[in-house]
Amino acid sequence: MTSPARRPIVAGNWKMNYGPSDAHDFVSGIFDDLDAITSVDRVLCPPAISIAAVHALTQKSGIMLGAQNMHFAEKGAFTGEISPLMLQGLCEYVILGHSERRALFGETDELVNRKALSAFAHDLKPIVCVGERLEDRDANMTERVITTQVRGSLAGLPAERLGELVVAYEPVWAIGTGRAATPQDAADVIAIIRALLAEMYGAEKAAPVRVQYGGSVTAANARDLAALPDVDGALVGGASLTADFVAIVRAFAESVA
Ligand code: 13P
Repeated sequence: MTSPARRPIVAGNWKMNYGPSDAHDFVSGIFDDLDAITSVDRVLCPPAISIAAVHALTQKSGIMLGAQNMHFAEKGAFTGEISPLMLQGLCEYVILGHSERRALFGETDELVNRKALSAFAHDLKPIVCVGERLEDRDANMTERVITTQVRGSLAGLPAERLGELVVAYEPVWAIGTGRAATPQDAADVIAIIRALLAEMYGAEKAAPVRVQYGGSVTAANARDLAALPDVDGALVGGASLTADFVAIVRAFAESVA
């Protein structure tokens, strides 16, 4: 069960799925059920081109939106990029440093950190992703990799506003593989993340940071994850493209009921 001080947050990362019309249809189908689960923060993260279409449906509801990425700059010659100013008013959250951005698009901890600072400066709440690869885990390097990512990606954030920060622990080997981390593995690494944040910002300032687990979260395993005291929610990929997303949100709602 999530600590009562931290409200659970379940976010659906749609990745490169659902253009505006499909996004509209999908959200229309789950809207009532999702809107009704008010004890959990519910965040949909469509591809950028579909954000406005989903916003039109959700703006008067409790369902929030997040972007999957953004540039740190407000405007300029950055072909193909989305700026924080463009997200304001549409999104409350922005996913930063997803392992796919890191592995496929060369994003470094330094870049992720610039983006996280920019998110805070523009009143967007960052969901910063960290996670080790299978070869890191097999080489007993998990703690070292996570430490480097947390220290590098989350440096210098405004300590008073850490309640707006979400960290997603997403082991790369669990993403899209159907092989979720065991609750114990997730709890162990999330404890490392919490200890690092406490070292960086002091225990009291770091306490409100919410830490999600992500990687093959399904309607079937969500309840076990939600039962862990330090797992404050989930970042869901594949299962967020179906009504299973609602079942996952419900599992977290039940954990705090
Ligand atoms: P899956 O839930 O499809 O494994 O993806 C997890 C993820 O990458 C969410 O950001």
